[in-house]
Amino acid sequence: MLDAEVRELMQPFVLSDYQVQEVYSRFCLEVARGLKRSTHPQANVKCFPTYVQDLPTGDEMGKYLALDLGGTNFRVLLVSLKGHHDATVDSQIYAVPKDLMVGSGVQLFDHIAGCLAKFVEKHDMKTAYLPLGFTFSFPCVQLGLKEGILVRWTKGFDCAGVEGEDVGRMLHEAIQRRGDADIAVVAILNDTTGTLMSCAHRNADCRVGVIVGTGCNACYVEDVENVDLLRADFKKSKRSVIVNAEWGAFGEGGQLDFVRTEYDREVDEKSINRAEQLFEKMTAGMYLGNLVRLVLLRALERKLIFKQSSRRPEFAGVLQRNEEVFETRYISEIEDDSFPEFASTRKIVRNLFGLEKASVEDCQTLRYICECVAKRAATLVAIGVSGLVNRTSNRRVIVGMDGSVYRYHPKFDAYMRQTLQKLVKADKEWDIMLSEDGSGRGAALVAAVASKSK
Ligand code: GLC
Repeated sequence: MLDAEVRELMQPFVLSDYQVQEVYSRFCLEVARGLKRSTHPQANVKCFPTYVQDLPTGDEMGKYLALDLGGTNFRVLLVSLKGHHDATVDSQIYAVPKDLMVGSGVQLFDHIAGCLAKFVEKHDMKTAYLPLGFTFSFPCVQLGLKEGILVRWTKGFDCAGVEGEDVGRMLHEAIQRRGDADIAVVAILNDTTGTLMSCAHRNADCRVGVIVGTGCNACYVEDVENVDLLRADFKKSKRSVIVNAEWGAFGEGGQLDFVRTEYDREVDEKSINRAEQLFEKMTAGMYLGNLVRLVLLRALERKLIFKQSSRRPEFAGVLQRNEEVFETRYISEIEDDSFPEFASTRKIVRNLFGLEKASVEDCQTLRYICECVAKRAATLVAIGVSGLVNRTSNRRVIVGMDGSVYRYHPKFDAYMRQTLQKLVKADKEWDIMLSEDGSGRGAALVAAVASKSK
């Protein structure tokens, strides 16, 4: 049985029906403001047009390179589109050293071009002409398919000299500086766009793409008449365009203050992008573990957990010393654990605190804390998804999803569905589908579809 006091501790994370409705209305309003030219500058859900206007048909063919930058890792991929909705992907993961994440932009792009050159050499393709799709998962103002001006860094990146610059050009120049491969940057895209495209490759009803990983964001297919910022010449022959919502920034105008907790405020205050990406800080993998860590500290202080142990101050010390000590993946592992053994939970507690015998009660308390933090995240994500699904003009809408939190958390999908059921309009038929390698396959598809429409 859970202590009434533990429930009370977590109450601020439990969203009431009224709060869910209110966040939903505020979110929909921000999307509408982001799309309108007159309100766009003040809106915090920016709704950037991506210039991707054709969804794949499934018959795309050819070999494409893809780059994926925007999470914990950086990847280079070789994607072979084979027609018949089929593709194979060969990829290599490279770490992004912490100092590169906050160093100079030129250094970052030189590193990327270096990895790219090694990859091409390894695959014996140094002399081949290769079109490349660059999945660059940060907010960008796109001026066309291959020009993306970085608006701001998110997710712990902060490289000098890139904000306000065209990242397509920076990558192109880094490749030219080396001069050892014939690679053309043909498209810049967000990971959410990649997710939507890769799901649409399999299922023609996909209209929304969502990432809940290190960061959290979504894109969707919007009618061109509603997208004021799309250049007029792109409205003539095509009816729709993918819009990158950049919903991570939702709440920067105070819209979420009525549901943000003291823990959310602390996460924000200690982050390198204070007052920015507030919705992301309540939903994404980069922050969820830290939220649990802060709640655990409060639980220790109030003697709501590890009551029997005299080492509580020492445990608090462990949690205080390192913001990243409670990893987000623990939340998934703990929620996946079985009662009453709690084998993974006990292992996590042992590794963190050196506590050999966490009681069943301790494990239940820890699990409840994780559950409340994750469920709130899933509910918020589903609020956003509902807003986008309800905006699309299709009756049947598939939501393509990816990201480590969505993928590995055992209940994230189920939590999301509960909220979607409440908020998606009754006349819509919807489902969620897991994306297969959106950042790679999706990038190749954007590149392929772009060359097809030329
Ligand atoms: C951050 C980025 C956004 C990206 C998301 C998921 O929110 O700003 O562009 O899609 O993370 O990676």
